[in-house]
Amino acid sequence: MTRPARVIVDVAAIVENFKVVQKKAPHARIMAIVKADGYGHGVVRVAKALAGRTDSFGVASLEEAITLREAGINEPIVLLEGPFEASELREIIAYQLDSVIHSEHQLAWFAGVAEKLSVWIKVDSGMHRLGFAPPEIPKVVALLQAGSHSIRFMTHLASAHHPNDRSVGEQVATFHCAIDSYNSETSIANSSAVLSWPTVQAQWVRPGLMLYGVSPFEASVGSDHGLQPVMTVASQLISVREVASGSGVGYGRGYICPTPMRVGVVAFGYGDGYPRNATTGTPIVVAGVRTQVIGQASMDMLTVDLRPIPHAAVGDPVVLWGRELPVEEIARHAATIPYELLCRVRMRARYVEFRK
Ligand SMILES: Cc1ncc(COP(=O)(O)O)c(C=O)c1O
Repeated sequence: MTRPARVIVDVAAIVENFKVVQKKAPHARIMAIVKADGYGHGVVRVAKALAGRTDSFGVASLEEAITLREAGINEPIVLLEGPFEASELREIIAYQLDSVIHSEHQLAWFAGVAEKLSVWIKVDSGMHRLGFAPPEIPKVVALLQAGSHSIRFMTHLASAHHPNDRSVGEQVATFHCAIDSYNSETSIANSSAVLSWPTVQAQWVRPGLMLYGVSPFEASVGSDHGLQPVMTVASQLISVREVASGSGVGYGRGYICPTPMRVGVVAFGYGDGYPRNATTGTPIVVAGVRTQVIGQASMDMLTVDLRPIPHAAVGDPVVLWGRELPVEEIARHAATIPYELLCRVRMRARYVEFRK
């Protein structure tokens, strides 16, 4: 028997979630964000599901872009952090990629290129991560237009996932003030802005997390926004045992049994991407019944409370997150965000496609 840990990807749900983006941003063009291996879902799988529907794809590296081109993806592909070295310009040209330009050193590389390229100038409207400060924009535009590159403008919001955060309006105003004198297309909104800041949408939206059926907000889950979870992480019970009252379970005896009880061992651990700090009390579904993780996950296994499932047996299915158990809930228990859980699970998982 092969190890039963699996990531099940509901391909049809990606398309359904994309339709939610279209409904929320009916006048915008869509750049589907598929970086980090499609948020852990498989970049080619996600891109193929959206090819012919989305207006472009956003990735974080040349390698991801080339993977998509070699898989037959013909839509525009945007390098969201631009090139990391001057030598990447060759591939940007060869693979007909679009690029963000966020810094002086990249500007110099693009200014020296004879080919006409399609670039997104990143404006730092207040997040202070990437982008040119507003006063630098005229110089950046002049240099790129001298090279007859076609330009668009993009900025990224720091706090759109916080409803009513004042900084969102401030960033949007700063962005518009910097670029409104140019007659170029613009993009601002990520998933949280698409879902809750409709006035922020601009000509392009850049949804990531919502395509995967997950809520970007702390207080909700994807289904509250009409989204369907795409990833289900599943495994099986590989051991069931009776443990005496007062006995400790797992490393550091992280859980002391309050009564005599049945404990299950699941073939899934932090080596598969389960968060190690999701300890006792974190929900998990065993044989269709919700119960709790007990103690601390080890590299390949975690332990579960089988008291609510007296009939549980070796081989029974376990869902760590997915359709029956929102990843948002697991993230809350692990004091992290669902983005991290989705991206991390790809390390050694076996993927299975569903509803392709
Ligand atoms: C520049 C940029 N745009 C869009 C996104 C998509 O964000 P989200 O997954 O929150 O929709 C990201 C993700 O981090 C990003 O870095």
